[in-house]
Amino acid sequence: MRTRVAIIGAGPAGLLLSQLLDQEGIDSVLVERQSAEYVQSRIRAGILESASVDLLTKAGVGERLAAEGMEHRGIYLQWPGERHHLDFVDLVGRSVTVYGQTEVTKDLMAAREAAGRPAFYEASEVTPHDIDGDHPHVTFVDSDGSPQRIDADVIVGCDGYHGPSRQAMPQSGLRVHERTYPFAWLGVLADVPPSTDELIYAWHHDGFAMHSMRSHRISRFYLQVSPDEDIAEWSDDRIWEALSTRLGAGDPDWTLHTGPVLEKSVLPMRSFVTSPMRHGKLFLAGDAAHIVPPTGAKGLNLALADVALLTRALTAWLHEGREDLVDQYSDTALRRVWRCTHFSWWMTMMLHRRDEEFDAQLQLSQLRRQVASESAAAELADNYAGVPIGY
Ligand code: FAD
Ligand code: PHB
Repeated sequence: MRTRVAIIGAGPAGLLLSQLLDQEGIDSVLVERQSAEYVQSRIRAGILESASVDLLTKAGVGERLAAEGMEHRGIYLQWPGERHHLDFVDLVGRSVTVYGQTEVTKDLMAAREAAGRPAFYEASEVTPHDIDGDHPHVTFVDSDGSPQRIDADVIVGCDGYHGPSRQAMPQSGLRVHERTYPFAWLGVLADVPPSTDELIYAWHHDGFAMHSMRSHRISRFYLQVSPDEDIAEWSDDRIWEALSTRLGAGDPDWTLHTGPVLEKSVLPMRSFVTSPMRHGKLFLAGDAAHIVPPTGAKGLNLALADVALLTRALTAWLHEGREDLVDQYSDTALRRVWRCTHFSWWMTMMLHRRDEEFDAQLQLSQLRRQVASESAAAELADNYAGVPIGY
C-alpha cells in the first residue's frame, strides 16, 4: 500500500493529524496497536485550552464539543481555610473547556469513518524503516495475522511514550531530559454530579487533591498518593473520606456529593522531553516525544499543538516542496513543549505535599501570592489557558 503520510498511533495526535492532512488534500494511513473501542474508552485528560477548541472546530469536529463541552472561566485554588477563584477570562481574556479525551477521540474517529479513510487497528510488530533513505515505510502484522507494508513520503510517530517511533531514531543523536516525582495520582471517575462549578486544585497536609468533571452528571477526582501505592488499599469509602477531608478543608460550608465509583487507577507522574522531534523522514508528535505531569492539564493540548504545527510544515513540503517549516518543526514545537514542561513542573511542585515543613511553608506562601498578586495570577492564567500554538 502507498500513501503520503504513514501515521503510527491513533490517539488524539494521530487522529487529528490525519483529519487535518485530509483537509489539505494529503492522504494518510493510520496504524494502531489497540482496538478502536479500547482507544475510545481510555480515560485520560479532560481540559481543552481555547486554542485546542479552535483547532478541533477548524478540523470539522467541533459540533458536539460546542454542544456538550463545558466552558470554564477559571479554576479554584485552595489550601486549608481558604478557597479562591482565579478568573482567567478577567485575567487574560481566555477560558478553558471541559471535554474528555474519550469524546475528542470519538469525534475524530467518527469523522475518519465518515470520510472512509483507511486505518489498521489491532496491528502488531509495527516498525518504521528507511527513515534516512528514499523509501521510508512501515511494516506490521494486521489483525488477521497478515504481514503489511505501507510506503510513504513521511512517517509520523504519534505512538505515545511506549511506541516504537522514538526507538527507531538513532539513539546517539537523541537528547532525553527526564524528571520523576516522588508522588503519583489516584484517579477516580464517579457517577455523581460535580460538587463544584469549576475545577478545584487543593493543597492539603495529607496531600494534593483535585475535583474535576466530565459532564453535569460525571465527576473526576484525583488524590496524591505514593508512586508504589497499592490500589487495593483504597476502598471506595476511603477514597470518599480522603476527598472529603482534603477538598473540604478549603471551605467549611461546602459539601462533597458522593456516588458510585466507576473506575479508579494509579497514574505515575513524570516529565520527559526528547530532542530533536525529527530524524530524516520520521517526525514525532505528542506523548511520543514528551510527557508532562497532569497538574497543568497540558498533555493532550500539547499533542494537539504539535499536530497543528506539523500539518502546516508537511503541507508546505508535500504541496510546494518548501522544506523550511519541516526543518524548523522540532525547534518550534520544543519551544512550546518546554514552556508547558515548566508550567506543569511548577504547578506540580507548588501543590504536592513533600516531607519537610520548610517546603510546605514555601508552597503556602506561593499559593497566597498567586491569589493576592494580579500579575502572579495572570501568569498562572496565561499558561493554564494556553500560550499560542506558534509560541
Ligand atoms: P496517546 O494518547 O498515548 O496515543 C498513542 C497511541 O499510539 C495509542 O493509541 C497507542 O495504543 C498507540 N501505540 C502505542 N504503541 C504502538 C505501536 N507499537 N504500534 C501502533 N500504535 C501504538 N493529560 C492531561 O492533560 N490530563 C490528564 O488527566 C491526563 N491523564 C492521563 C492518564 C494516563 C494514564 C495517561 C497515560 C496520560 C494522561 N494524560 C493526561 C496525558 C494525555 O492523555 C496525553 O498527553 C495524550 O493522550 C497524548 O496524546 P497522543 O496521541 O500523543 O498519545
Ligand atoms: C481531568 O479532568 O482529568 C484533569 C483536569 C485537570 C488536570 C488534570 C486532569 O490538571
